[in-house]
Amino acid sequence: MQPRISRKDRDRILAGIHKKYRKVADSPEGLFKFPTGKAGLKGLGYAPELIRALPEKVAASYCGVGNPFSIGAIHKDESVLDIGCGAGVDTIFAGLMAGPAGKAVGIDLTAEMLRRAEANLALTDLKNITFKRASGEKLPFEDSRFDVVISNGAINLIPDKDAAVKEAMRVLKPNGRLMIADQILKGGINPDKRERIDKWAR
Ligand SMILES: C[S@@+](CC[C@H](N)C(=O)[O-])C[C@H]1O[C@@H](n2cnc3c(N)ncnc32)[C@H](O)[C@@H]1O
Repeated sequence: MQPRISRKDRDRILAGIHKKYRKVADSPEGLFKFPTGKAGLKGLGYAPELIRALPEKVAASYCGVGNPFSIGAIHKDESVLDIGCGAGVDTIFAGLMAGPAGKAVGIDLTAEMLRRAEANLALTDLKNITFKRASGEKLPFEDSRFDVVISNGAINLIPDKDAAVKEAMRVLKPNGRLMIADQILKGGINPDKRERIDKWAR
């Protein structure tokens, strides 16, 4: 269980996320402490054939913190949900692996990131991918809808992580797979709560 976050702190967290990811939607370059774009994809060990399949502009918009597919591949015809899809690179990879009879859906809270994801998708010829604006805390899907739920660098940003994990489990089919790449805080928590909230999305 995580400590409760007040409505006021939650609003500040969401404003900070929006401020940061509005910029990231233009380009992630220089905005993270880890490599982004194609260098990030290569460094995190994404399969070379997947990287080769991406238009350069799409690869350049990648800002994941890990490689959710290092946990396992997506199989043909599977349905996949990507929580906090950002510019949609992992969603596009999932759609590629699932093939034309499979499906990948990306959700994100930030409208600008979703616009980038749609623009990225338009640079491919994939027809099995959709994007939708939603929060990981309340997924707009029925129970047991997806074979796999992936997420890359988004759960750490979500204020109510318990709700996010419950929602991910709810939309997974029985024996479905949850494949999360994310960051965790190690060491002591900054005692200054205000600073902690203000730096949430850094
Ligand atoms: C590190 S980026 C994701 C990178 C992406 N997976 C990729 O392949 O490049 C984190 C994303 O989480 C989104 N996000 C933050 N809070 C969210 C929430 N409550 N629900 C859904 N998405 C959220 C942000 O808008 C941002 O696009």
